[in-house]
Amino acid sequence: MSRTENLAAAADVADADPDAAATATATDHAAACTPIRTPEEKRAFVHSVFETISDDYDKMNDIESFRMHRTWKRRLVEQVIESLSSVASLAPDTSPTILDVASGTGDIAIALAAALPNAHVVGLDFSENMLAVARRRSESLSPEISRAEFIWGDALALPFADNSIDALTISFGLRNLPDYEAALREFSRVLRPGACFFCLEASYPTSPVIKPFFRLYFRHIMPLMASLVVGHRQQYQCRQYQSVLKTRLSVVRRLF
Ligand SMILES: C[S@@+](CC[C@H](N)C(=O)[O-])C[C@H]1O[C@@H](n2cnc3c(N)ncnc32)[C@H](O)[C@@H]1O
Repeated sequence: MSRTENLAAAADVADADPDAAATATATDHAAACTPIRTPEEKRAFVHSVFETISDDYDKMNDIESFRMHRTWKRRLVEQVIESLSSVASLAPDTSPTILDVASGTGDIAIALAAALPNAHVVGLDFSENMLAVARRRSESLSPEISRAEFIWGDALALPFADNSIDALTISFGLRNLPDYEAALREFSRVLRPGACFFCLEASYPTSPVIKPFFRLYFRHIMPLMASLVVGHRQQYQCRQYQSVLKTRLSVVRRLF
């Protein structure tokens, strides 16, 4: 897909589940944590959650997705590699710059750097603690594949020049941002014409049969597991309520 198609698809996200916002009521949310009313409050809340859970994030990801996130991310990386090979503006001997926004503990950036020896891969996040885990993980790998650079930055004010990025990825990050359209505009600004954009995101299932089970799992079982396994029930409960309440994301590009 071209940059324009991808960004248009991303701009179309939302409203896969129009009743999600209505059903995830303010009361539900207030019961779980302090209500969040402004973009600044959402940013501060998300930041504090990831600063708190950084050491347990990878473990919880494996548990809450039954390790499926690994497969989804592998598919994402394969698609980035495939798309980069067909980016018309890239000369065969150039080294593409790939930016993984909201990189967290670095799954995508590390995998891309390992798979693309010529690429300059940057993982950007605004949580120092998540970045510390990413750097630790990357440094524990052999030098040939431990080439991703991890930098602090805000997804809504990327520290990159216009038209300077050949591929931009964001995995389970868009829903955490306070303003999706502003984020997409910022991604568009840094992407070169014809560059690739990939967003991996979760959504509510649309099937009325599966939806209640998913809701039960998402709202109750997942926070309970978080509390039993890593002791962060409230952070997970708040994080998940927040995701549903504010985001209503559909999958930007369905991998399955
Ligand atoms: C659910 S984690 C996803 C991490 C990783 N991409 C993955 O797929 O496992 C969301 C990440 O987004 C980061 N984040 C949230 N808002 C951000 C912002 N405004 N700027 C940069 N990073 C942000 C958080 O710190 C967190 O590391």
